[in-house]
Amino acid sequence: YDYDLLVVGSANADLVIGVERRPGAGETVLGSDLAVHPGGKGANQAVAAARLGARTALLARVGDDAHGRLLLDSQREAGVDTVGVLVGGAPTGVALITVDPSGDNSIVVSPGANGRLAPEDVSAAGCLFQGSRVVSAQLEIPLETVAAVVRNLAPDSRFVLNPSPPRPLPSEVLAACDPLIVNEHEAKVILGSAAVGDSPEDWARILLAKGPRSVVVTLGAEGALVASAEGVSRVPSVKVSAVDTTGAGDAFTAALAFRLGAGASLAEAAEYAARVGAVTVTKEGAQASFPTAAEVAQQ
Ligand code: RIB
Ligand code: NA
Repeated sequence: YDYDLLVVGSANADLVIGVERRPGAGETVLGSDLAVHPGGKGANQAVAAARLGARTALLARVGDDAHGRLLLDSQREAGVDTVGVLVGGAPTGVALITVDPSGDNSIVVSPGANGRLAPEDVSAAGCLFQGSRVVSAQLEIPLETVAAVVRNLAPDSRFVLNPSPPRPLPSEVLAACDPLIVNEHEAKVILGSAAVGDSPEDWARILLAKGPRSVVVTLGAEGALVASAEGVSRVPSVKVSAVDTTGAGDAFTAALAFRLGAGASLAEAAEYAARVGAVTVTKEGAQASFPTAAEVAQQ
């Protein structure tokens, strides 16, 4: 394989303001100075994997504008192959992000060019798919594009999906996931009315019954659960004090995908990914906070 990981997904300019508290409807609050960072769940995954030492490529679409150039530069700086980053069709995606004193964020995304990443763009990138051991995706691009990803996978490559932001998934996509990686909120949206049972173990089992080959449920401070035909097991959390959680889920997914491709078991890969995620929440920003393999080892 030429690449350990091919990420298919979004690239956004993150416009970030720190706030004491978020405004309600009709209310105005004052916040910090504006920070503009490269982000987007796809671009974040690619940078996170490359920092850890994975040979990584990104298939994405940005606008022909300053935000698009910011994103291309950050990918190249991290060592990501950007041959699959298409330019034009709409403005670069933007995420409006507020971060509160506890490090929690809320995000509104304008997909822009991400919404124009089409199934034909996936078919045209056949070489990238043939050359990739693991392929990962998220849901800030059209669902039909994610379905095209599943149809274009090389016979032996593995597909990892973080369905964020969540929506119900077609069975064709669910069946390809190995694993499907969800937090509690995403699990509930995907299960819909099937969300019976109240323990995360129950959700993991019901999700698995919907077709994925494996499932990971992330539980924040409670760690994570991994579920496959071999059963359900818990992965411990790593205790840290959070500064900015933006991008932690993306770093988790990328680290997990990379370790799986390197031959780790699902539980081993999830444990490593939890350590990577823990480092990222202790620092500001998304991509700026992603660790190298050496930094994870020191943690
Ligand atoms: O997961 C974090 C990311 O979500 C941010 O970088 C933002 O762009 C949104 O896509
Ligand atoms: Na961070």
